[in-house]
Amino acid sequence: MSIKIPFFKKKQKEEFQGELENVPRHVAIIMDGNGRWAERKGLPRVAGHKEGVHAVNKVVRAAAKADVEVLTMFAFSTENWKRPKSEIEFLMKLPKEFLHVYLPEIMENNVRINTIGEFEALPEHTKEAIQHAIDETKHNDGMLLNFALNYGGRFEIMRAVKQIVNDIDCAKLSVEALDENLFSDYLYTNGLQDPDLLIRTSGEQRLSNFMLWQSAYTEFWFTDVLWPDFDESVWWQALNEYQHRKRRFGGL
Ligand code: FPP
Repeated sequence: MSIKIPFFKKKQKEEFQGELENVPRHVAIIMDGNGRWAERKGLPRVAGHKEGVHAVNKVVRAAAKADVEVLTMFAFSTENWKRPKSEIEFLMKLPKEFLHVYLPEIMENNVRINTIGEFEALPEHTKEAIQHAIDETKHNDGMLLNFALNYGGRFEIMRAVKQIVNDIDCAKLSVEALDENLFSDYLYTNGLQDPDLLIRTSGEQRLSNFMLWQSAYTEFWFTDVLWPDFDESVWWQALNEYQHRKRRFGGL
């Protein structure tokens, strides 16, 4: 029997205990609109990022409850280095702040943390905080919470191509053996299923260099909600709509 996730009223949703069907296995989120959220409130842009941290936890909690297997959140792109230094410094402190507050709940929810992107180029303090969380959560076998940090889709593809050329050069790989599956193994997302659902907030409708290879057959869902206002009810709206999509992967 297919149990649809209706537009629950808040109370019903909290009480919902049934099995969810047709839940996306991998959800990717482009968290956008922090700056506009702050500007609308007459606050500095970074206030939006700070508030956005709490929205991250709301979604992690809701996704774990929905039995999503992988949640990938775009926290910092390779292009975000173009922002003012003060904003970058602020953004780089957020993983530590998030983990300081929410790591206990993440442990309770059996969530494992990992990252995709050029991890080594992050500031030491950011790396330390994240590495600590990766180590702490490595035995959890529930949802994977994957932070895309210093991540760019084109860079990821170029990096894969370079490694492939290198492996061919030293005879670890033959050109004949290369196919789409093997190519995927060279991406940061090696071993992960492609995202089933990609959510972008704030009314923008573009990929912004996020998971270019992986999103070939992903369902997109856009909302005008600004990231700091994203909560469980918006999450269920996205899931509800996903459940009604017909995925054909190019077939009939
Ligand atoms: C885009 O909004 C958002 C970002 C560049 C940063 C997203 C980061 C967080 C929400 C917090 C991350 C938290 C953890 C735990 C790593 P924008 O600044 O581009 O908004 P705008 O388009 O309104 O200016």
